[in-house]
Amino acid sequence: MESFEASVVDSDADAIERSNEAALRPTSLDEFVGQRTVRDQLSLVLRAAVSRGATADHVLLSGPPGLGKTTLAMIVAGEMGATLRVSSGPAIQHAGDLAAILSSLDEGDVLFLDEIHRLARPAEEMLYLAMEDFRVDVVVGKGAGATSIPLSLPPFTIVGATTRAGLLPAPLRDRFGFTAHLDFYSDDELHSIVGRSAGKLGFEISGDAAAEIASRSRGTPRIANRLLRRVRDWAQVHGSGTGDLAAAQQALIVYEVDERGLDRLDRAVLRALCTRFGGGPVGLSTLAVSVGEESETVETVAEPFLVREGLMSRSPRGRIATADGWAHLGLEPPAGALPGAPGGRLFD
Ligand SMILES: Nc1ncnc2c1ncn2[C@@H]1O[C@H](COP(=O)(O)OP(=O)(O)OP(=O)(O)O)[C@@H](O)[C@H]1O
Ligand SMILES: [Mg+2]
Repeated sequence: MESFEASVVDSDADAIERSNEAALRPTSLDEFVGQRTVRDQLSLVLRAAVSRGATADHVLLSGPPGLGKTTLAMIVAGEMGATLRVSSGPAIQHAGDLAAILSSLDEGDVLFLDEIHRLARPAEEMLYLAMEDFRVDVVVGKGAGATSIPLSLPPFTIVGATTRAGLLPAPLRDRFGFTAHLDFYSDDELHSIVGRSAGKLGFEISGDAAAEIASRSRGTPRIANRLLRRVRDWAQVHGSGTGDLAAAQQALIVYEVDERGLDRLDRAVLRALCTRFGGGPVGLSTLAVSVGEESETVETVAEPFLVREGLMSRSPRGRIATADGWAHLGLEPPAGALPGAPGGRLFD
């Protein structure tokens, strides 16, 4: 059973979805689609380390949710033939938590620290020392009688992942020997991911259906895999059981994902902006009230994609619909509407 998803195109995943995803993860760099530069560079780092018989440099992976950071962390361990240990910033509340993890590492282990930007400060400082000198200072006792005992660690590799690279303090960022930023995927790359995932699910899908899913997946493999599962559901319940173009289109109508990957909230925001506020500029809170949502939801869930697609722009005076935004709703843009500004770079 899968959980109810508020939106089928949310780039975040809950626990149940993450367990579904495990089955679809590529397990080697060769199987990892797209991100060509990152793949080539990482492959070099790992192969060089293997040939020296050494552990690999620490690796930092950054980028938006659902683009493959966790997948790559697992691949690093796999390619190194190493044991993967997993923890995350929010799980490490105290320096002692980190000390316990670090002191239990064996030589060559890969420690994956997800959401590393959320590490507590004292843990962060302990991590500096561990990454650079393979050492932790364990504090024994309390108050005036506390002593710190240096403990040396066997060499290991940290793979850090973050959706917010900008929040990482420079001293931490600098301790990673290899840093990679993951970007959104092209439709062709997503097409190939959908094809591979369908194969793993034992679900037969046509090329045009896979392309249809790819083009509505917002550049994000997680969303592509999720839409694929929805299409499979539709095909099993209403269709022939195989994924043809009609099944893909019908399923995406049921889940209200339009041909550009916008969901209901995205369209409601865009429509309110155009029809109620004449295309703006209008303030975020006014816009949010008019669609009956929290400002934060509009700002963090709907806006980033609308701005990235060049359908909307953020200006110092408020939100503005671009000519592309009007056109996407089938409306005539007013004279003087901004042209589409992909990425919203016009003002950001
Ligand atoms: N390059 C890729 N090729 C094939 N599948 C991919 C690729 N990147 C991601 N996926 C698939 O997309 C899903 C999400 O990927 P992953 O969990 O690695 O994302 P993430 O960047 O760690 O996201 P988050 O920031 O939310 O933790 C997984 O099921 C994974 O198999
Ligand atoms: Mg992840």
